[in-house]
Amino acid sequence: MINFLSILVGYLLGSISFSYLITKKVAGIDIRQHGSGNAGATNTLRVIGKGPAILVLLLDAFKGVAAVLIFAGLSAGDPMPTAMAGLGAILGHNWPVFFGFKGGKGVATTIGVLGTISFFPTLYSVLTAIVLIAITRYVSLGSLILLVMIPVFMYFRHDPSSYIILGIIVAILGIYRHRENVKRLLNGTERKLGSKKS
Ligand code: G3P
Repeated sequence: MINFLSILVGYLLGSISFSYLITKKVAGIDIRQHGSGNAGATNTLRVIGKGPAILVLLLDAFKGVAAVLIFAGLSAGDPMPTAMAGLGAILGHNWPVFFGFKGGKGVATTIGVLGTISFFPTLYSVLTAIVLIAITRYVSLGSLILLVMIPVFMYFRHDPSSYIILGIIVAILGIYRHRENVKRLLNGTERKLGSKKS
């Protein structure tokens, strides 16, 4: 029962699309009809600017943190409800019930979820992604590397298997959500951070 409740509550929290709400409030637009069409911090940066993008990044991460902390507190050491709450938050972010199931790619929420569950593997992966993005200017490439690295680091750190499985599922979901970015990266048409056609 608690596993069902945790994925449901996580999903509802994750379904709060902060990029949609903030860009609507600041610029009166639907972020999903501009830039890459993604409801996330990178596209908010591209379309509106740095301040709103940082806010989106923090709030999208925070909903993942909140989902995990609520069920870590309720589940008395059982990692499964915590993992389910985190998965629910990422599913909600990607396919939000409140916004026609058209959401983001889940990277900020993944950082919030996995950063709360397994801090150092997530930190090392975020730092690697930041360096990669600074060098290549491809946020999507950094995101993909981050998604793959976290479960690998979690495995070597001997995290509970339900957390490692969560990390693997989240990576697969994230790669799937980045499938158009992967095509653009391969054919050289991916948007670069800060470039004119970004
Ligand atoms: O987290 C999303 C990022 O990796 C790519 O976003 O808008 O360039 O598709 P976008």
